[in-house]
Amino acid sequence: MAELVLALDLPSGGEALALAERLPEVGWVKLGPMLFVREGPPLVRAFVDRGMRVFLDLKWHDIPHTVAGAVAAARDLGVAMATVHCLGGQRMLAAAVAAAGPLALVGVTVLTSHDAGELGAVLGRGVPDLGVEVERLARSARDAGLRGVVASGHEVGLLRAALGDAPWVVVPGIRLPGDAPNDQARVMTPGEAVRLGATHLVVGRPVSAAADPTDAWARLRAAT
Ligand code: C5P
Repeated sequence: MAELVLALDLPSGGEALALAERLPEVGWVKLGPMLFVREGPPLVRAFVDRGMRVFLDLKWHDIPHTVAGAVAAARDLGVAMATVHCLGGQRMLAAAVAAAGPLALVGVTVLTSHDAGELGAVLGRGVPDLGVEVERLARSARDAGLRGVVASGHEVGLLRAALGDAPWVVVPGIRLPGDAPNDQARVMTPGEAVRLGATHLVVGRPVSAAADPTDAWARLRAAT
């Protein structure tokens, strides 16, 4: 059994709250830059006050002092999970962990929008195998004391083999058979992601853009 996280990439806080409140048993909501830049900390507090755990997905990547300050602010807001980029390096990750308290930090390995060619261009060297890069960055997250990592469903199996059972593996790009992939290149069904070892499944548009969000949410919950 994994946690189902409702990604709220919606135009306003009012719409996000309305959607989360009409669905039964929403344990986790994910707020990203789209909504956080518009609505800020009051929207985080609104979800926390309603008893929902907030995953703040701002993917921090900056100098250690700045990232530690952002993590401390999120912790003080009552955020339950937040993202940092593993590419920020060990000192940045360690500073983030030191500031996190009860907040669970998860490290973004390789963005699912990157392919090997694009990552190679960013890094200035050849990347023959994206999985090797994902595993290398996930090990750096584990070594720095992060709670887990974010990865596509296609890397969950290799991460479980490399890191064992303990780390959270948070997987976006979840789709039921027949769902539109939208702009996601590498999608996976909830059942397959759970079978491979995902602990948190992130799902947005299959619910928020569904003709019947309540029905879509129920079908995803049943498959998780
Ligand atoms: O609508 P959909 O289900 O595709 O939403 C996926 C969510 O997961 C979005 O909020 C997106 O920002 C996030 N995400 C992702 N890929 C990553 C990290 C986060 O799609 N590598």
